[in-house]
Amino acid sequence: MDLKLKDKVAIVLAASKGLGKASALALSAEGAKVVISSRNADELNKTAAEIQQQTGNEVIAIPADISIAEQIITLIKKTADIFGRIDILLNNAGGPPFDKFENFDDEQWRKAFELSLLSFARTSRQVLPYMQRAGGGRIINIISGSVKSVLNNAVLSTSMRMGVVGMAKLMADEFGPYHITVNNIAPGLILTDRIQETFPKGMDKDQALKEKTKAIPAGRIGKPEELGALVAFLASAQAAYISGTTIQVDGGASRGIF
Ligand SMILES: NC(=O)c1ccc[n+]([C@@H]2O[C@H](COP(=O)([O-])OP(=O)(O)OC[C@H]3O[C@@H](n4cnc5c(N)ncnc54)[C@H](OP(=O)(O)O)[C@@H]3O)[C@@H](O)[C@H]2O)c1
Repeated sequence: MDLKLKDKVAIVLAASKGLGKASALALSAEGAKVVISSRNADELNKTAAEIQQQTGNEVIAIPADISIAEQIITLIKKTADIFGRIDILLNNAGGPPFDKFENFDDEQWRKAFELSLLSFARTSRQVLPYMQRAGGGRIINIISGSVKSVLNNAVLSTSMRMGVVGMAKLMADEFGPYHITVNNIAPGLILTDRIQETFPKGMDKDQALKEKTKAIPAGRIGKPEELGALVAFLASAQAAYISGTTIQVDGGASRGIF
């Protein structure tokens, strides 16, 4: 299927590795011009070169911290200056820390809000005029399966991502007339550095994976490219009638019915 992404311009946030990188690779492989961003410039440049080499399509690295307003405004302006348009925005960030509710203070709540909710609102607001001018667009938010099924110690993540779900629904409502769709992807367990860091210290990697995946109907952990494929589809012309939704990529792991 031709997803009709050739020469579309995509911004992919938090993309030096993990789910962001896999999303950037999938969009680039479909012909999009991709701007990737995250904080560490060296890692980001390496990733941009690697994706461009693999797909043959232009990938530009612009470092930014998604929680800092000025850096995001500059990133979006630079993208528009370079390519003259913005068609796709993939909102993504490193996740907030895991712990019990009673261990988080106001400062940690504020940081989680800035990283996982305010940042997505800000980037979406900044790209809106460009998408309106382009006659349409796609906003895709990477959130977490914790919005569908309780995840221990994920109170910061769940609280902020529930906010993203509500925000995306309202944005889908407002942006529909501009032919801009807004959707969320809720990953379950997908093998990235973030997940490897949660493996119990000293436990063999295969054993840790076995423990973590025993309740997943698919019987295994997900691969980043399996989420990237959904990003490319949601960004495509064919997905024009899908908006305001949250789609899980979790091998059937969620215990929720809705
Ligand atoms: N993997 C899963 O199974 C899973 C499940 C549920 C939810 N999620 C969520 O999906 C998102 C991506 O996770 P991942 O597994 O891909 O993580 P990852 O492999 O650790 O990658 C995180 C990426 O985010 C960038 N980043 C972190 N903080 C940033 C910031 N403030 N500004 C800009 N970029 C930032 C990192 O680069 P720099 O450090 O250089 O900035 C890196 O490129 C997270 O929000 C995570 O909570 C993942």
